[in-house]
Amino acid sequence: MPSDELPLPLVLDRVHQGDCLELFSHVPSGTVHLAFADPPFNIGYAYDAYEDRRPADDYLAWSGRWMAEVVRVLRDDGTFWLAIGDEYAAELKVLATRELGLTCRSWVVWYYTFGVNCRQKFSRSHAHLFHFVKDPEAFTFNVDAIRVPSARELVYGDKRANPTGRLPDDTWILRPQDLPEGFSAEEDTWYFPRVCGTFKERSGWHGCQMPEQLLGRIIRACSQPGDLVLDPFGGSGTTLAVAKKLGRSFLGLELSEQYATRIKERLASIRTGDTLDGAPEPLKSVPATKDGRRLARSSRKR
Ligand SMILES: C[S@@+](CC[C@H](N)C(=O)[O-])C[C@H]1O[C@@H](n2cnc3c(N)ncnc32)[C@H](O)[C@@H]1O
Repeated sequence: MPSDELPLPLVLDRVHQGDCLELFSHVPSGTVHLAFADPPFNIGYAYDAYEDRRPADDYLAWSGRWMAEVVRVLRDDGTFWLAIGDEYAAELKVLATRELGLTCRSWVVWYYTFGVNCRQKFSRSHAHLFHFVKDPEAFTFNVDAIRVPSARELVYGDKRANPTGRLPDDTWILRPQDLPEGFSAEEDTWYFPRVCGTFKERSGWHGCQMPEQLLGRIIRACSQPGDLVLDPFGGSGTTLAVAKKLGRSFLGLELSEQYATRIKERLASIRTGDTLDGAPEPLKSVPATKDGRRLARSSRKR
């Protein structure tokens, strides 16, 4: 390709299979309203086409390269959400803010149950969600789109409660039946369950599938209908599926041929305007299970 010729832009509203670093060169600068990335955490997770245990320096150098591409393709008023585990959360936050010039608006903790059961240490039950913006003075944040009921309304039945609810705290929780005492909608821990094996929502072919309701909150808050949402690590396609349901334009990148094929099937099976999977109001409902019922307490495994 002659050097003065720009690579053809990727076709919108689909997933593209390949290495995101190569595919990024087909995304024009300053075009993306919202990027959401849930990269491999470098913890040895078994993906079909990616080796998730690399020397730390390699992983960090690679993270710097793809995050620089995210910053390049973001609009000046764009937003970047990064999901990451404990191992690299601190280093990637420094990279994003000190080296790439982003501003961190929130460091959200997503608290979930049914995480990995560890034998020699505390079991993993949270991930970090960083909310970065390019320009701290100009970004999208739709407060009214993501309100939750307040404890004042939900727990105390207080007539003074704002009937439109309140903004969620920065700790997110999705399964009310597992709510530890003391967590309320006002607090800074977010709780959404992982998409468990029994949930109707579970696709079953990707172990890192994120809940639609979690992406729903992020996409509703940080983009408008018609905006372009990018996910460089498509996985099971949750970001793209939610963007489509919520009437956003989207671009997905995914290394694995198998996952990319499944994402295409998932996207083909949904329409704009479809409701998001999972409990719409986690503090008031439970997720639907595949067989449409909850197991009796006595038949649950311990
Ligand atoms: C943690 S998963 C994403 C899960 C996703 N958030 C979901 O809800 O299903 C990370 C994904 O990144 C993909 N991946 C790894 N390296 C990649 C690369 N260089 N380019 C594009 N995708 C990559 C893996 O195949 C894996 O599916």
